[in-house]
Amino acid sequence: MQLPERVTVYEVGPRDGFQNLARFVPTDSKIAFINALSAAGLPAIEATSFVSPQWVPQLADAREVMEGIERGQGIRYPVLVPNLTGLERALDTDVREIAVFTAASETFNRRNINATIDESIDRFRPVMARAASMGLRVRGYVSTAFGCPYQGDVDPGAVVRVTGDLFEVGCSEVSIGDTIGVADPAQVHSVVAQLQRHFDLGGIALHLHDTYGRGLANVVAGLEAGVRTFDSAAGGLGGCPYARGATGNLATEDLVAMLDQMNIRTGIDLTALVAATSALAASTGLRMPSRAFEALRAQQRALIPA
Ligand code: HMG
Ligand code: MG
Repeated sequence: MQLPERVTVYEVGPRDGFQNLARFVPTDSKIAFINALSAAGLPAIEATSFVSPQWVPQLADAREVMEGIERGQGIRYPVLVPNLTGLERALDTDVREIAVFTAASETFNRRNINATIDESIDRFRPVMARAASMGLRVRGYVSTAFGCPYQGDVDPGAVVRVTGDLFEVGCSEVSIGDTIGVADPAQVHSVVAQLQRHFDLGGIALHLHDTYGRGLANVVAGLEAGVRTFDSAAGGLGGCPYARGATGNLATEDLVAMLDQMNIRTGIDLTALVAATSALAASTGLRMPSRAFEALRAQQRALIPA
């Protein structure tokens, strides 16, 4: 297997991790979590969403979060933006990178952002123009790329088409989302191979959810297929409010522990990452689904003299 020396881990915990929780995580805990993730060396931390607070009340404090965090040198703090209203709200804070999102399945897109796929791409055009005028970098997401909670199977041709649309409107990177965690390694190989026929894989990321415990297997398939950027959420929190059963993003601890073991560098300090997630668990009482987090925390406890 031809493995890279280095991959980029794109942290989505403060956004994807919190957006689906039954309760509101206090703003101070969110800010402390992001600061601790910065200290652990995460190179890109998706900090929050400027979506409608009626639709996602868990992230209604987006502005306070962006104003409260300390920015580490060289660290990116992108935010999710669904439309021009969201971008203008984001620009009231010191935002330098945004992410727009659409899907490969119509029903999901309608439920998630109240638009068809084509309408969403049209909605992004003025967002992209405004972002370009402000010098912002823009990532795009294609949700439900491996399966849809409403429509079932998704045509890989639709994934290629929507990815092309996102590059065409000006995204510099497109993240291919397994929103409900149903992908398998063979499918990851196949979808990435189809994307590679049309696009440079340097601009493609994989956004995997671990709903059925296949997240890491799918990362290995992605690595083999040539992907070099992986999204994950510290602690393994997460899900999508408009995809029932989409529990658990791939956990950053699980991802980094495996990559460390495989001698693939990420620049992330695993001990500091576990400390960041531990502090969040302590301040909120949230249970973290990450297996590596539990194992490493138990080891760290065992090392502390009684
Ligand atoms: P809509 O109701 O169609 O919006 O929602 P609208 O344009 O008709 O506006 C209705 C009202 O909302 C207006 O206010 C707007 O001003 C306001 P009113 O005049 O009634 O007082 N409004 C806003 N307010 C604040 N911020 C905004 C905003 N936009 C409109 N940005 C909309 C359309 C897109 C806004 C809504 O559907 C929405 O916010 N959806 C977000 C859903 C979401 O966040 N989903 C989770 C993220 S995606 C995900 O998790 C997948 C991913 O992780 C990848 C993967 O796993 O696949 C990325
Ligand atoms: Mg997601």
